[in-house]
Amino acid sequence: MERPRRLRATPAMRRLVAQTRVAAADLVLPVFVREGASEPRPIATMPGVVQHSRDSLLKAAVEAVEAGVGGLMIFGVPEHRDATGTGATDPRGVLNVAIADVVAEVGDATVVMADLCLDEFTDHGHCGVLDDRGRVDNDRTLERYAEMALAQAAAGAHVVGPSGMMDGQVAAIRSALDSVDAIDVAVLAYAVKYASAFFEPFRAAVESTLDGDRRTYQQDPANAREAMREVRLDVAEGADLVMIKPASGYLDIVRLVADSVDVPVVAYQVSGEYAMVEHAAAAGAIDRDSVIMESLTSIRRAGADIVLTYWATEVATRLRAST
Ligand code: PBG
Repeated sequence: MERPRRLRATPAMRRLVAQTRVAAADLVLPVFVREGASEPRPIATMPGVVQHSRDSLLKAAVEAVEAGVGGLMIFGVPEHRDATGTGATDPRGVLNVAIADVVAEVGDATVVMADLCLDEFTDHGHCGVLDDRGRVDNDRTLERYAEMALAQAAAGAHVVGPSGMMDGQVAAIRSALDSVDAIDVAVLAYAVKYASAFFEPFRAAVESTLDGDRRTYQQDPANAREAMREVRLDVAEGADLVMIKPASGYLDIVRLVADSVDVPVVAYQVSGEYAMVEHAAAAGAIDRDSVIMESLTSIRRAGADIVLTYWATEVATRLRAST
């Protein structure tokens, strides 16, 4: 008789034969910085996550780096918004200032990434600029993304993460970066981003003004083949890493992508995935810490090399304590 249980008999044996590991260095912490905040502000939809002040952001960055986290992804929340999102390209804008701050503080010890999208900076809340009929204008948005890439590179970002799902965004950003010799700034393409209801808690985190949805640019959750097309285009346009987002509901897509590319595969465990666990745990329905580790292990097992997770510092700290 075959006895698969033999390999599960002790914790030491299970550890030895574990096929998938979660390491601190694989985790990236998304952080929010709020213009004008003098102290961190809790985000009601995401218990435990805050909008940082300039100061508290640096403390969180140091803490993450000390825990061994692989990188930080910075989102900016501006005080004022307008039609074209000028705050995104202003060197004194909240995100560009935060990038420079974090790079100065921990830039030698970690990878500093910046969200490259207009939705936090536009008064209508869309990821791009609008045409005169109110539709997102793909090609005019590319011009803004190119300018944003230059501002983020000037602030010192190591990686820019275009998350707006405009066609041609990776090529536009790559060529802008190359034109100023920023050849070492990498592009983490949100290649496969679904129009997901799991992003809802994030809206409060960035005080989103969006009225409507993003279905004309983000992907239909029904589609898998389209994900392969998006990945193919982004890699051809020069993406250095490709992301799938959300993670948990889309592990089949993570696997498909991981089997087809030769660049690192990133998955984003989004706000809704986070919030469901935190709220269920607060209600006593699940064991929080076990569910967190199981969820991250599953995302890694599906083929993600790197995971963005709001639990990055906590999990990295726990992993450090256990080894
Ligand atoms: C938009 C953006 C979103 C998220 C990251 N970047 C929201 C959206 O596309 O609607 C969601 C992240 C999360 O839910 O944790 N630039």
